[in-house]
Amino acid sequence: MIQLKNDAELDGVRTSCKILAEMFEVVGPQIAEGMTTYDVDKLCEDYMKKKHVKGPCKGYYGYPNVSCTSVNEVVIHGIPSKRQILKSGDILSLDVCIDYNGFISDSTHSYEIGKVSDEVHRLNVETRKSLYLAIDAASRSGARIADISRTVYNYMTKQGYGVVRDYCGHGVGFDLHEEPEVPNYVSSLHSNPRLRKGLVIAIEPMINMGTWKVYTGDDNWSVFTRDGKPSCHWEHTVAITDNGVEILTEL
Ligand code: MF3
Ligand code: CO
Repeated sequence: MIQLKNDAELDGVRTSCKILAEMFEVVGPQIAEGMTTYDVDKLCEDYMKKKHVKGPCKGYYGYPNVSCTSVNEVVIHGIPSKRQILKSGDILSLDVCIDYNGFISDSTHSYEIGKVSDEVHRLNVETRKSLYLAIDAASRSGARIADISRTVYNYMTKQGYGVVRDYCGHGVGFDLHEEPEVPNYVSSLHSNPRLRKGLVIAIEPMINMGTWKVYTGDDNWSVFTRDGKPSCHWEHTVAITDNGVEILTEL
């Protein structure tokens, strides 16, 4: 069941998303080579404590941290580690959720560490671009979920990239994962609801340099590319309003 948000509820989600957007503004510039992914998670957690909000990823099916820190060939759900030191050339996707008074936000930024290769830089630029193209597609009147999916899929496959199929965007706001699913490819197996006022969704292209195929590692969380090539991930929580699509996790 899709849980549409009324104006008061949307205000709560909006505040949660704003706090999360600010977190990226605070934490992002501090991310540098030589830090561990644990250090990055700690920056996120310290920020949350200061703002008196919670990180609902922590404890989600036993997940240990407030952020997912996925480096290079890790697509999503990388667990922060004191042994994982960021080095020049890495790409780090930082995926964070915040719970403010029961209202949940979800956003991901990918960071280039030091100097990355031209190929990795292009992957990052194009993945981010596909998120904004998808948001544009959602803004057209009469748009449905599949318009988002098709936009990401067509744009990224044309660039020669692999579009991850095993994981999707999702409804969000009251829970971390709500209906509907927001896949990055089109399939008749997915519901394809029309976008309507009160719908709040996380759009999140997960894009691989090589094959779209992935597998889950021995920690039962980290999702790796099958070919070991790098991956990139960008995500915004957005709301459908009377005035079109509002990007909630952007200041
Ligand atoms: N932010 C992730 C998403 O978009 C949620 C990760 S759940 C966790 O689905 F437990 F892995 F943190
Ligand atoms: Co998400």
